[in-house]
Amino acid sequence: MDAISVIRTKRDRGELTDEQIDWVIDAYTRGEVADEQMSALAMAILLNGMNRGEIARWTAAMIASGERMDFSTLSRPTADKHSTGGVGDKITLPLAPLVAACGAAVPQLSGRGLGHTGGTLDKLESIPGWRALLSNEEMLDVLDSVGAVICAAGDGLAPADKKLYALRDVTGTVEAIPLIASSIMSKKIAEGTGSLVLDVKVGSGAFMKTLADARELASTMVGLGTDHGVRTVALLTDMSTPLGLTAGNALEVRESVEVLAGGGPADVVELTLALAREMLDAAGLKDADPAKALADGSAMDVWRRMIAAQGGDPDAPLPTSREQHVVAAPSSGVLTRLDAYDIGIAAWRLGAGRARKEDPVQAAAGVELHAKPGDTVTEGQPLLTLHTDTPDRFDYALQAVRGSYDIAAPGTDFTPDPVVLE
Ligand code: URA
Repeated sequence: MDAISVIRTKRDRGELTDEQIDWVIDAYTRGEVADEQMSALAMAILLNGMNRGEIARWTAAMIASGERMDFSTLSRPTADKHSTGGVGDKITLPLAPLVAACGAAVPQLSGRGLGHTGGTLDKLESIPGWRALLSNEEMLDVLDSVGAVICAAGDGLAPADKKLYALRDVTGTVEAIPLIASSIMSKKIAEGTGSLVLDVKVGSGAFMKTLADARELASTMVGLGTDHGVRTVALLTDMSTPLGLTAGNALEVRESVEVLAGGGPADVVELTLALAREMLDAAGLKDADPAKALADGSAMDVWRRMIAAQGGDPDAPLPTSREQHVVAAPSSGVLTRLDAYDIGIAAWRLGAGRARKEDPVQAAAGVELHAKPGDTVTEGQPLLTLHTDTPDRFDYALQAVRGSYDIAAPGTDFTPDPVVLE
């Protein structure tokens, strides 16, 4: 077997055989297939697709590239959720401790930023002292004692995805249903969770721009999970505008803590509770009341213990940006669009994301929103505040936000899309 013949098969719209898939994933993991060859294959898959049989085999080969975890020693049922990625999507931060406070064990193996979307680990690393890298034993310890853990997948878990994820991020090959579905599901199945709730994002700030594509991605992933014995459900949720009022690492941690304290933006609270209910249902904890756990402080208590268990100081002040730039509303009226993709690109250019896989991120960089679609704004009022430590980034970020919003005449009747679409 050789890489060139596998690339040619997919380039020429052929179906990859089981042997080709098993070989290429194994050889790439071992370094025998080079990054440039895998990039070419990923681009061929993005352009020409894969059928369900190929996706199932590709996923199985990624699972087989590493170890499988076992949570059977835990006394609580496991519940996990995974988002396909969005702008301002900080939901894992309040959700994991909330679901743990309701009685489930929540193992959240999370990722870093991908393209214009933020990553949960990058966000949490803005908390002084917090560590993303845990050994499997440490992870199980935190899960057992606290009920929730958010950490990086260990090197042993789906290592093929670890390499391919970083490669796709910098080669324009993220937005492919077969690659997204196999990437997410290989990690989740290898992790060994009993149940999984998928938050499939739809809209400009998501990798899936249309409901039809999001449905296809959701049903592909639910099929993969179900075939591997994981109770899997999916919600399709709106990503045409950022979630909440912040996009950027420390900014999003601050907003998540507000939610855990019983406040926070309505859309973040709504989606956190909707996903919590699905997770608790899938874990067989139908009588739990997540709204109560948010209101009575028990979710906040789990958050504090979870952060401290990973070396973080939940009371430490979060980093703030050295420089800010305010974008004012150019006219009065009703905000009818605030584009998630443009805001994600702006946050990324301000330093919240990476241009190369080895780049560091700025903890304090990002975009703060002062209005959401449906709000009335007044000419001259702050619409956005851009945050960075490196002010030479403002111009480039401002180019992204220039066309990112529409303001209609005062009094225009406008209803924003619901947060949960299906
Ligand atoms: N999240 C993942 O883990 N993988 C993808 O490909 C996209 C989002």
